[in-house]
Amino acid sequence: MAKPHPHPHSHSSSTSTTAFLGLGLHKKKKWVLMVLALFSVSTLIVLLMRAAISDSCAHRIRDYRKDSAQREIPGFSSSSRASSSPLGVGADVVWITYQKPAETDEVVYSLENKMLDRGVQVFSAKGQKAIDTALKADLVVLNTAVAGKWLDAVLKDNVPRVLPKILWWIHEMRGHYFKLEFVKHLPYVAGAMIDSHITAEYWKNRTKERLGISMPETFVVHLGNSKELMEVAENSVAKRVLREHVREALGVRNEDLLFAIINRGRGVSAALWKKMGEEKGTKEGVSRGKGQDLFLRAFHESLQLIKQKKLQVPPMHAVIVGSDMSAQSKFETELRDFVTEKKIQDRVHFINKTLTVAPYLASIDVLVQNSQARGECFGRITIEAMAFQLPVLGTAAGGTTEIVVNETTGLLHPAGKEGVTPLARNMVKLATHVERRLTMGKKGYEKVKERFLEDHMAERIAFVLKQVLKKTKGHT
Ligand SMILES: *[C@@H]1O[C@H](CO)[C@@H](O)[C@H](O)[C@H]1NC(C)=O
Ligand SMILES: *[C@@H]1O[C@H](CO)[C@@H](O)[C@H](O)[C@H]1NC(C)=O
Ligand SMILES: *[C@@H]1O[C@H](CO)[C@@H](O)[C@H](O)[C@H]1NC(C)=O
Repeated sequence: MAKPHPHPHSHSSSTSTTAFLGLGLHKKKKWVLMVLALFSVSTLIVLLMRAAISDSCAHRIRDYRKDSAQREIPGFSSSSRASSSPLGVGADVVWITYQKPAETDEVVYSLENKMLDRGVQVFSAKGQKAIDTALKADLVVLNTAVAGKWLDAVLKDNVPRVLPKILWWIHEMRGHYFKLEFVKHLPYVAGAMIDSHITAEYWKNRTKERLGISMPETFVVHLGNSKELMEVAENSVAKRVLREHVREALGVRNEDLLFAIINRGRGVSAALWKKMGEEKGTKEGVSRGKGQDLFLRAFHESLQLIKQKKLQVPPMHAVIVGSDMSAQSKFETELRDFVTEKKIQDRVHFINKTLTVAPYLASIDVLVQNSQARGECFGRITIEAMAFQLPVLGTAAGGTTEIVVNETTGLLHPAGKEGVTPLARNMVKLATHVERRLTMGKKGYEKVKERFLEDHMAERIAFVLKQVLKKTKGHT
């Protein structure tokens, strides 16, 4: 592929450099191009710190495995649009990571190799090269709240020089991030980018109340579905194959109704947390915050409702993707005990944690997004399910409320125990009103096409970069 010409107005004398700390690959490719188109940035540096947090919002890295795994799903051919993107448009792209390729796991390894394929430099977040790069950069994008620790640990005395050109991308909404050691520099950075309005508001409140600091200018950027996911979602042959395959494996028939709660289980390694100087890691997959327990209760209640009212509906099943018996968690044992006690073993299916969610999205009928408390920061699985034309039964909390249109693309229920009966009723509603269920799925898909594609996200990010780069001019 021919290299695009450098931007006519680029100032080749100045080493304009943009440094990101952690961005999605496909999006980044676009940002790079957009940034170049918009701002004459002649050198672009991408720093990627491994998304070290296993939070409801830290999806970035996990998504890569999902994407690459999806390409390998048999039954449909993947497009070969993969590698040849010209990141080179007069840009130097550098990805800085906390782990060296040799010690990374499969996901990071394949991501790094994709970067290298695209001419992106990859080097360690520790060391002189990282410091030099950050000093030269026009913009440094920090990914995740904990990336704040990198500033002091690596940049040391140089921190004040880099702060005014930092765009901080935050995907977390949990108490333990509200620590000064992570976020004390927040007020001095050029801007913050957050996945949902409600999370942005939460950060504003918490930083003020808990830490007595104020947020910088904050931009909300909803995420978008990857092209790879859309390819599967829009390929009816692939979907049918996946559906038959998964249903057969579960022992459920084509006409049975499947309600699923899906969490990508990629727990972040304790080792990485340790590197970051943190003892505490959080566990992804089956956990109380994801509300699988309340979902099972609601499911059981819906079966009873159907029995009581003698409703004619196909056999219903609950699928819980993201379990991990090897973890021996008390919570998961409770879930399984509940299923045994209520004698619904033949209706409930636990599926080990996986990063490859497309086969399940292709196989189920309804996605349940039952995140509790403050809910999801954004809730990527929600837009992914909508891409597969699935209605969503979600808690009226967090980012879900910014995605699901109540009564149109899904039905919302309250978080907490008081949500169990409403969720049970909503499940019955979707089981009995087939047309409505299908219509909701279609509307969800339309919404994705309107707002939640990778291109939309890239546009939103381009806007943010434009704003932030205006401010950072003159700091290099
Ligand atoms: C933020 O604080 C305001 C005022 O106290 C409150 O109304 C709002 O619900 C809070 N928002 C979040 C997300 O915590
Ligand atoms: C699921 O995980 C458990 C525990 O790690 C393992 O024993 C089991 O074989 C796994 N099942 C599948 C289908 O991979
Ligand atoms: C969703 O819509 C239903 C029906 O109008 C309503 O009863 C319910 O309160 C709504 N829920 C939310 C969270 O808006």
